[in-house]
Amino acid sequence: MNMKSITFTLNNEKRSFDIEPDETLIDLLRRSGYTGTKLGCDTGMCGSCAVIIDGRIVNACILFAFQVDGRTVETIEGVGDFDRPHPLQTAMADAGAVQCGFCTPGIIMAAKALLEQKPNATEEDFNRHLDGNLCRCTGYVKIKEALLSCSSATGGQS
Ligand code: FES
Ligand code: FES
Repeated sequence: MNMKSITFTLNNEKRSFDIEPDETLIDLLRRSGYTGTKLGCDTGMCGSCAVIIDGRIVNACILFAFQVDGRTVETIEGVGDFDRPHPLQTAMADAGAVQCGFCTPGIIMAAKALLEQKPNATEEDFNRHLDGNLCRCTGYVKIKEALLSCSSATGGQS
């Protein structure tokens, strides 16, 4: 197949990639070392592959890589790391909201996108905004507790 070159901003850095025309964004990310974005269902149903594109949450498994040409993409690697975690990452760890961790990057990306639009997000906002993020381990109670603690509505800071 003919390769195509695309350029986009990835975690605040301008990057160029050669891609297959039918390559998905998650395949591009993972083969380029951004393995924090997880491939679960591969059909847009579970949210484990969620990334932020131009401020909006998108499932990377159902987007072609060429569709991000010229756009801004943020993955979990751009959010924080072990030494400098984002408040959402700290809150998830502190609340014990992570078990196998497979859903965690997608949940953090979805919550971050919501809090950037609405810093005082309520429980109802989180329920609605994260209804596409599935977790098979935790039962959601601790996840919700962690995310809500980062909303300014509860005195948190994200
Ligand atoms: S892997 Fe993309 S939504 Fe499930
Ligand atoms: S912690 Fe295992 S799927 Fe959510």
